[in-house]
Order: sequence, then structure tokens, then C-alpha cells
Amino acid sequence: MGRRALPKLDPEIDFSRHISEVDDLRAPFCPQSLFPQSSDLEIEIGSGKGLFVLNESGKHPERNYIGNEIAHKYCKFAAYRLAKSERNNAVMLRGDGLKFFRELLPDQCAVAVHVYFPDPWWKERHRRRRVIQPGFIADLERVLVPGGVFHFWTDVEQYFEETIEKLAEHSDLSPPIHVEATPAEHDMDYRTHFERRMRKYDHDVFRAQFKKSL
Ligand SMILES: C[S@@+](CC[C@H](N)C(=O)[O-])C[C@H]1O[C@@H](n2cnc3c(N)ncnc32)[C@H](O)[C@@H]1O
Repeated sequence: MGRRALPKLDPEIDFSRHISEVDDLRAPFCPQSLFPQSSDLEIEIGSGKGLFVLNESGKHPERNYIGNEIAHKYCKFAAYRLAKSERNNAVMLRGDGLKFFRELLPDQCAVAVHVYFPDPWWKERHRRRRVIQPGFIADLERVLVPGGVFHFWTDVEQYFEETIEKLAEHSDLSPPIHVEATPAEHDMDYRTHFERRMRKYDHDVFRAQFKKSL
């Protein structure tokens, strides 16, 4: 399944306030400094074209959103969409999400962390590039506030099962409070581009939420 070319960006739209580089940020870092107003923060790693952050920041103007994406062109496109929709509660960070969590995010700063359809890195020798790995799990648990939620969706059943096992082994996050591999309720409620694509090709989507205890 190839990816479609991205639409051209309108040069009149200035998205410079909606994008920063992970490598330009320094610890101690306050994520709320990216927004005009402090409020509950949600973070997505691997945002792709940014549909989730764009939609959620529109639905919840009372919350702040950071989308993180390693690929320059997708990150720019996602930031452009946020600027075009005049979101002041959502920004994109370009760079490695694992580094962002490990080196920059302070303890207990996020009410939710989202990972949707992470690259599966099928080959054994590439597995260490997966987002879900012990170091990230430790950071995830540290970064979530008590009661905070981790959302994980994938179309790869093996990755899904390994994620559930790894979270049980390396964290005290609750066992998944919601697990399903079922089609969603209707055609237009997809959360990300990859979810839309999986549904189009009738692939299962495995979804789980994990909660940090209060
Ligand atoms: C399969 S795509 C899914 C995109 C989007 N979440 C969706 O569901 O449509 C995975 C995305 O994660 C990004 N990615 C992979 N490793 C990353 C990392 N270490 N940090 C940030 N983004 C990463 C890739 O560039 C890619 O855009």
C-alpha cells in the first residue's frame, strides 16, 4: 500500500509557530511553553500527516496537543494543517519521539499519550527501531500523570500482543482496559490516515488503552 503524494502547501500560510525541532529544545523543558495557555496535555508519537492532532485539537480546545513526527515532509504538512485551521492549542515537533520522551519531557506532564499504527519494523535486526521498547515504556509511565492513559492501536496482531506483554513486564500501567479487533461503528469516525486505510482494505485494527493508577 503506497502513500499518496502530499498536496502542495499554500506559501501564504505561515506555519512557523506550529513546528519546532526536537534537537533545538533543551532540558529542563516545559512543554506548556509551546502554547499560549497551560492546560491538560496530550502527546502523539508518529503523527504522520497529523489527522489525529488536527481533529482532536479542534474537538477539545480546552486541551493542548503535541504531535511528534520524525519524517520532515509529514511533520511540515501536519504543522501546515494546524496553522491553516488556526489551532493555538496544537503544535508539531519534528524529530525522534523516543529522544523527546527520554531527554526532554518532565515527569507527570501528560494526561494522555497516543501511538497509532507505529511502523512494525518486520526484520529482526530493525526491531530496536520500534517505538514500543523498554526504555520508552519507562518514560511513558514517568511522563503520564496519575490516572493518565496510553492509547495504542495497530493492524499488526503480533506487535499488539508483544506490546501488551512488554507493558505488563516493564510497567505498572493497568492491563489493557479496552482491547478489540473489531471494525469501528461507521465509515467516517476514523482517527488517523492509517486507520482509514486499514478499514478500506478490511484489515483488523487492534486497540488498547492502558491507565496509570491514581
Ligand atoms: C505507519 S505511520 C502511522 C501514521 C499515523 N499515526 C497514522 O495512523 O496515520 C508511522 C509514523 O511514525 C513515524 N515514526 C517512526 N518512528 C518514529 C519516531 N522514532 N519518532 C517519531 N515518529 C516516528 C513515521 O515517520 C510514520 O509517519
